[in-house]
Amino acid sequence: MERIRSARRMFSESFPPSPKFTENDVPNLTQKVFLVTGGSSGIGLELSRVLYHHGARVIIAGRSEKSYNEAVSEIKANPAKGRNNFPKGSMEFLKIDLSDLTTVKPAAQELLSRIDRLDIAWYNAGVMIPPVGSKTTQGYELQWGTNVVAHFLLNRFLSPLQLRTAESAPAGSVRTIWVSSSAHHFGPEPYGVNFDDINYDRAAKKPAPFLTYGQSKVGDVLLAYEYANMVSDKGVVSLSLNPGNLRSNLQRHIGNIARRILGFLLLYPPRLGGLTELYAGFAPEPAAKKGFSFVIPWGRIGVLNKNVQIGIEQHGTAKKLWSILEKETDKYM
Ligand SMILES: NC(=O)c1ccc[n+]([C@@H]2O[C@H](COP(=O)([O-])OP(=O)(O)OC[C@H]3O[C@@H](n4cnc5c(N)ncnc54)[C@H](OP(=O)(O)O)[C@@H]3O)[C@@H](O)[C@H]2O)c1
Repeated sequence: MERIRSARRMFSESFPPSPKFTENDVPNLTQKVFLVTGGSSGIGLELSRVLYHHGARVIIAGRSEKSYNEAVSEIKANPAKGRNNFPKGSMEFLKIDLSDLTTVKPAAQELLSRIDRLDIAWYNAGVMIPPVGSKTTQGYELQWGTNVVAHFLLNRFLSPLQLRTAESAPAGSVRTIWVSSSAHHFGPEPYGVNFDDINYDRAAKKPAPFLTYGQSKVGDVLLAYEYANMVSDKGVVSLSLNPGNLRSNLQRHIGNIARRILGFLLLYPPRLGGLTELYAGFAPEPAAKKGFSFVIPWGRIGVLNKNVQIGIEQHGTAKKLWSILEKETDKYM
């Protein structure tokens, strides 16, 4: 029954109404400092474009300086849509490979040596349905390790600076945004994370790749939820989102013909995903209530998958994941 409900919800999130929150609603961002993981491509690039053209200092974290340089040229050559009378900001590269936890601490230390405030962190980088059996350097299933574990560890380093920033920033303006997906409706039963064997190392049959992608996107939701519990009283807004179905490099592991058909039928320009992430960062609604919110395309407050919500509320899945990852990442601190 919940599968049918999820499919319906996913369908409705796949065909959203036109965005109400656009580039024109983003304020002047001079003096603000933002981090975008995976900002050299797809949705993160569209987000970075708007931040830069509104005056912000944008740190783009990724593993390839070449991709970063190409993104910067593209962003500078093509201003964000809408009003364009803001001073330009600045962009800088931060090297990190989220599929290798040993790169997280040096990246975080480098970042903390450069900045003295962090207004918003968008944990946006992600990988989807790589070849079955793909692993991170530490042996995590690649999507889980990249999308969830590495962002968790990065956040452990950046959280103190965000809390300090919130002490003097306008209420609701300091945010941590954990990018999830409509795929969070399709994590493993019953509550979205297979806690007994998260990496499916002991599974007799390897799971369908979309199931493990879905699990990683449930992981992002759970971290956003638990972090909201921990920091919303201290002025940091933690939320998660489904950016929508966008044409980007995320579909790189899907076969060419399938990708073209999918792209033609179902995917939207990545700018719209950028708008969802901008809404999460700057719209008042996600900060209006204490605690967690889930944003859906192209900038609305939505609801979580019911089983994921039940897992959180009745079975403590968010707390459980937080404490597992704390133990697992202690040695990389
Ligand atoms: N596109 C969609 O339809 C859609 C739908 C729902 C949710 N999302 C989510 O939106 C986010 C952005 O996706 P996108 O569509 O913009 O995809 P994308 O174009 O592939 O961008 C993903 C970014 O993540 C980076 N990344 C991947 N693995 C990394 C690693 N090990 N270390 C550092 N950076 C890494 C990529 O860098 P490289 O170029 O070096 O790989 C790239 O810059 C993801 O979290 C995705 O799950 C996307």
